[in-house]
Amino acid sequence: MTTQTQTQAQANTDFYSVLKDRRSVRHYDPNFKIPQEEIQEILELATKAPSSSNTQSWRFLVVTDQELKKQLLPIANNQQQVVDSSAVIVILGDLEMYKKSEHINQLAVDAGYMAAEFAKQFTENSVKLYSSLPKERLHEVAVFDSGLVAMQIMLIAKAKGYDTVPMGGYDREKLKQFFNIPAHLAPTIILPIGKAAVEGRPTSRLPISEITSWNKI
Ligand SMILES: Cc1cc2nc3c(=O)[nH]c(=O)nc-3n(C[C@H](O)[C@H](O)[C@H](O)COP(=O)(O)O)c2cc1C
Repeated sequence: MTTQTQTQAQANTDFYSVLKDRRSVRHYDPNFKIPQEEIQEILELATKAPSSSNTQSWRFLVVTDQELKKQLLPIANNQQQVVDSSAVIVILGDLEMYKKSEHINQLAVDAGYMAAEFAKQFTENSVKLYSSLPKERLHEVAVFDSGLVAMQIMLIAKAKGYDTVPMGGYDREKLKQFFNIPAHLAPTIILPIGKAAVEGRPTSRLPISEITSWNKI
């Protein structure tokens, strides 16, 4: 059986099962490697996520090189999943996301989704707005967008029979230094993806009645 067929056998595309069964997995089969094309497919589908003014501020640094993954270990608080998973997806938020607005809107024009005049106006408005925002606000936008795309990656991975764990427990400064990440790309979350060796443990959730108020706080 090839790795790909093993995966397909365990895939589950029922949406509600995927939601219910996804768990953070911290123990991975170190011998299982997800093909690069499949990781690319997952990312393509994940980027269907919504984003602020469709600026798509997420950027991906996919680490598959085993030596690099080992060197990530001390940066990631010695969490072994960065070594044993197939790949570690570092999600970066582009604080200069508006620089791609023209390109994004041109793609929409080319696809027939947007009139050229509207695209021009939309681009102008986006560039004006986002380029004037303080860095903290841009960071907030980028972190929010990264969270949305991260969730999509986790669910798509689960649907394909893979597992993930979102990780905020790592040293941002050391990560930036290690990969020589430019200043406008802010590390948001790192996401190991691979084949579980040990299932994630179940976790409980607060009842909705405890966290929800209706019409007033
Ligand atoms: C922003 C964020 C940061 C997290 N950081 C870590 C981490 O560094 N290491 C880890 O093992 N799990 C981490 N987790 C996973 C949570 O512990 C996990 O999602 C939570 O316990 C609920 O479990 P579940 O994902 O299995 O439903 C993180 C989750 C989020 C959303």
